[in-house]
Amino acid sequence: MRVLVVGGGGREHALCWAIAASPVCDKVYCAPGNAGIAAVAECVNITTENIDGIIAFARDNKIDFVVVGPEAPLVAGLVDKLTDAGLKAFGPTAAAARIEGSKGFMKDLLAKNNVPTAWYKRFTDAAGAKKFVREKGAPIVVKADGLAAGKGVTVCATVAQAEAAIDAAMTAKEFGAAGSELVIEECMVGEELSYFVLTDGFAVLPLGGAQDHKAVGDGDTGPNTGGMGAYAPAPILDAALEEKILRDIVKPTLRGMAAAGAPFKGVLYAGLMITKDGPKVIEYNARFGDPECQVLMMRLKSDILPALVATADGELAHMDLRWKDEAAVVVVMAAKGYPGAYQKGSVIGGLTDAAAIEGAQVFHAGTKAEMKDGKPVITAQGGRVLGVAASAKTVSAAQALAYKAVDTIAWPEGFCRRDIGWRAIAREKNKA
Ligand code: AMP
Ligand code: GLY
Repeated sequence: MRVLVVGGGGREHALCWAIAASPVCDKVYCAPGNAGIAAVAECVNITTENIDGIIAFARDNKIDFVVVGPEAPLVAGLVDKLTDAGLKAFGPTAAAARIEGSKGFMKDLLAKNNVPTAWYKRFTDAAGAKKFVREKGAPIVVKADGLAAGKGVTVCATVAQAEAAIDAAMTAKEFGAAGSELVIEECMVGEELSYFVLTDGFAVLPLGGAQDHKAVGDGDTGPNTGGMGAYAPAPILDAALEEKILRDIVKPTLRGMAAAGAPFKGVLYAGLMITKDGPKVIEYNARFGDPECQVLMMRLKSDILPALVATADGELAHMDLRWKDEAAVVVVMAAKGYPGAYQKGSVIGGLTDAAAIEGAQVFHAGTKAEMKDGKPVITAQGGRVLGVAASAKTVSAAQALAYKAVDTIAWPEGFCRRDIGWRAIAREKNKA
């Protein structure tokens, strides 16, 4: 098969790495890819917004299968347009991707299908939203309805903060059109879990759980980011909890999507809060998490490609995946300043030595290969720049290996958290 992966982050590096290892894969292309992806796929200079460009490339290069990584092209209808052009693609249609693209749509769907989630109300006017916030009191959560690159959610400790968040979205239009409608909802308390399944709309193939570290600083302090690290499996996810999540959350959601005329095909990522009353949905995503995808791929023993194809073909009921009996940890290295303003263009050294460490794997998120002073170098081109991953028998051992690889990388302009996996490691220590 000739495969095209759409995207250029750590998630897409992990996908390209896994797909390139498939015996049924002849060639992997990635649009636009990055300097790390170039080691396992041929990168083509087409952005993820350029839907016509992606379709033309796939057609001209006899691509058998397109795998779409990020949410924006899914919500924009890339899979619909590929399908219309006679090309096979992995990912939901635009109608199904609304589960991520409109929080109001998602909340109404859950309410209609009795899926446990935070109570909520939708608003298109600031005055009504503020009145609701004053009635309900704090803590409370204010969310932009549409895609806001991970920045549209404000967990508010006070009513004043919630009013400011409403003004930021509706009056200052900080998230553009994505914030012209808001969802205001209950602030839930508990431990967070990312749970992933492949689904062809009906059959479900669980990929298990992972935990992400959203805050920028050690001890989960400071502003939220796209994710500073992750680990899998998630120790909180035992067999009983997984059964409950599948029965009470994932399956009724998929039945609801099918009943709404938008069966969901692809990877469904449930962001869950494990509350004292059981698991509840925080949000749904229509794609793999990043960096969570990196730890999922590190643990995967089976060939991913047939499972992705079976998802697209509606034949997932016949698939099975095997996982390594190991834990995986990924530490994100970001440019200093992230998630605020940061510099681009600094040189990253030591990547080859880090990748040579047995059990470690360096995934690139925002890098570029350039010539500097006549020498080829890898430079930082984004906020989150690298995902340094490792797998081992325990989370503690995988964490130690990941930090060994991090410390081999010479990049003074970058930083990372030093405590990725702390919750699981504390549990391992308690058990020992
Ligand atoms: P999201 O962008 O939807 O992933 O939200 C970002 C983060 O905000 C989540 O990972 C949670 O930590 C937090 N969050 C969102 N909604 C809620 C809620 N209803 N209750 C508590 N925390 C929330
Ligand atoms: N790591 C969180 C996300 O991919 O949305």
